[in-house]
Amino acid sequence: MSQHDRKNDRTHDRINPVPLPTDQELVLKVIPMPADCNANGDIFGGWVMAQVDLAGAVLPARHVRGRMATVAVNQFIFKQPVRVGDILSFFSKVERIGRTSITVKVEVFAERFRSQGEFFKVTEASLTYVAIDAQGQPTPIA
Ligand SMILES: CC(C)(COP(=O)(O)OP(=O)(O)OC[C@H]1O[C@@H](n2cnc3c(N)ncnc32)[C@H](O)[C@@H]1OP(=O)(O)O)[C@@H](O)C(=O)NCCC(=O)NCCS
Repeated sequence: MSQHDRKNDRTHDRINPVPLPTDQELVLKVIPMPADCNANGDIFGGWVMAQVDLAGAVLPARHVRGRMATVAVNQFIFKQPVRVGDILSFFSKVERIGRTSITVKVEVFAERFRSQGEFFKVTEASLTYVAIDAQGQPTPIA
């Protein structure tokens, strides 16, 4: 996809609501509050990253059934701003299960408080979690 196509794609997503994914699981819903804002009055990116990290851990936890740690944020794209009062839905799916690690995709959709039923993709990310033992060392996934 060219840079021009990517820009058009982003504009299209911003203006047009998108269908929610059917091949991913809803793992978290949360509504950001004024305390989560940056100086522009939009929601602070670090707050969104923390929620994505929590949401991304849900599916790996089913496989690991023990301690795990986030080893990598492979990709993180803020496609459009999140606003106070947006109802955020976090969808996730497992992309890869390795010997000790699991990589997941997380997509975040905002439902504007005043226009519920329409969803806009605000963030997408890929994260890797590692199963760790009591000493904090990687351990095979059962
Ligand atoms: C997670 C941790 C235990 C991994 O230890 P390590 O010695 O780097 O582990 P290894 O090199 O043996 O790799 C373990 C797995 O992680 C994967 N991995 C390691 N670095 C990675 C990276 N940068 N990106 C993606 N996967 C990675 C490896 O491919 C391997 O997966 P596999 O067994 O499924 O093939 C260690 O890096 C750690 O403690 N990091 C800090 C974690 C943490 O505090 N997270 C919260 C941040 S606030």
